Amino acid sequence: MKKIFIADIKNYENQEITLQAWLYNKRSSGKLHFLQLRDGTGEIQAVVFKGNVSEDVFALADKITQESSVEVTGTVKKTDRAKIGFEIDATDVKLICGSEDYPITPKEHGPHFLMEHRHLWLRSLKQKAILRVRHRIIKSIRDFFDNHGFTLVDAPIFTPNACEGSTTLFETDYFDQKAYLSQSGQLYMEAACAAVGKAYCFGPTFRAEKSKTRRHLTEFWMVEPEVAFMDIFEDMDLAEEFVEYIVQQVVEHCRPELETLERDISKLENIKRPFPRISYDEAIEILHKKGNDTPNGEDFGGDEETLISEEFDKPVMIHHYPMSVKAFYFKQAENGKAACVDMIAPEGYGEIIGGGQREEDIDKLMAKIKEQNLNPETFDWYLDLRKYGSVPHAGFGLGIERTVAWLCGLSHVRETIPFPRLMDRLKP
Ligand code: 4AD
Ligand code: MG
Repeated sequence: MKKIFIADIKNYENQEITLQAWLYNKRSSGKLHFLQLRDGTGEIQAVVFKGNVSEDVFALADKITQESSVEVTGTVKKTDRAKIGFEIDATDVKLICGSEDYPITPKEHGPHFLMEHRHLWLRSLKQKAILRVRHRIIKSIRDFFDNHGFTLVDAPIFTPNACEGSTTLFETDYFDQKAYLSQSGQLYMEAACAAVGKAYCFGPTFRAEKSKTRRHLTEFWMVEPEVAFMDIFEDMDLAEEFVEYIVQQVVEHCRPELETLERDISKLENIKRPFPRISYDEAIEILHKKGNDTPNGEDFGGDEETLISEEFDKPVMIHHYPMSVKAFYFKQAENGKAACVDMIAPEGYGEIIGGGQREEDIDKLMAKIKEQNLNPETFDWYLDLRKYGSVPHAGFGLGIERTVAWLCGLSHVRETIPFPRLMDRLKP
């Protein structure tokens, strides 16, 4: 018998085939059992009619339980009733492995219960759709940089210093010294772009986020391009082209998944350049008009980001924040502000990109390191980059999970990564 995947079913109309799959649901009426099968590549219904199978097979189809693994043989029939356009007229069903008391039933479960069973929850059709969208986002990221002359340069995970402030560092013993899990590969990409011109790294990053929000994980994936001889405005051009590409690739390749997730696809189709660009001062004005009284000079939090994003139906780039609210490495622009940019996703999904132009002058950089009470000794290698042919350069970091949340329309980042790490979650 020809063993096939559900995704290939259309090539076998009226032919007899065998499928290996899990039973995700079942319906019965008298002489018929309708087995809803999924094999990871797709979903299809097998119809077990009493007159077409042996007594043993009919009895098995009657008592088979949710998430049992099975081998089903039968003929592929066209039907308009199913989304996939086909069903199987079963002639044989074999049990591979039973499944007693599967914890996740078609009824509603709370988020805590589902997170405890994340290893099983992943099998549900919505979670599978999210995994697929995530995969497509990651593929699009790699394709974009490959097509734009970038070289992938891997950054280390064990690092001697902070990149994004010392309050969210995970510390670990590294033989006889202290090491920290990387918060960002940026500093290493600054070294790499002097070697390859356009560099990017893509990997897990770690932050001991002590607040429980719907946008923060303690372990998340970030992609970080860094380009030599680039300024803040070219950096925004790159970020805009990059995000447009990712969104349109997902729209093109993930329509069935977005439909499963009940995502409003027209909102994503609209994500085309140019994106709005506003200065920090203009963002403050918007907030004040909307009744939010964040003083000029303070950083924005999730609430402010959401308020600003309501004004636009595309991602908005907010640039030139006050130096005092940004990391030590930013270049000071002529207007005294930091040459930085944050990209805020529409529909209240928050900041997806943070980046900007780096300080290339060694004395100014040293002064910032001291001002922010960082240890200059751990940055000696980084300061070297400003000693030997220092050039203007810029880059940014895009958080994968926030991007998945936005494109899939998910209210919490815990569903955007296969096995989320949160302040109160280390298992499974
Ligand atoms: O704005 P951030 O902190 O920027 C940096 O780390 C720079 N060093 C990047 C660079 O210029 N190379 O983080 C970048 C992005 C945020 O916009 C957000 O999307 C994501 O990383 N992010 C998080 N995602 C999930 N959980 C967290 N705790 C996150 N912290 C940041
Ligand atoms: Mg940021």
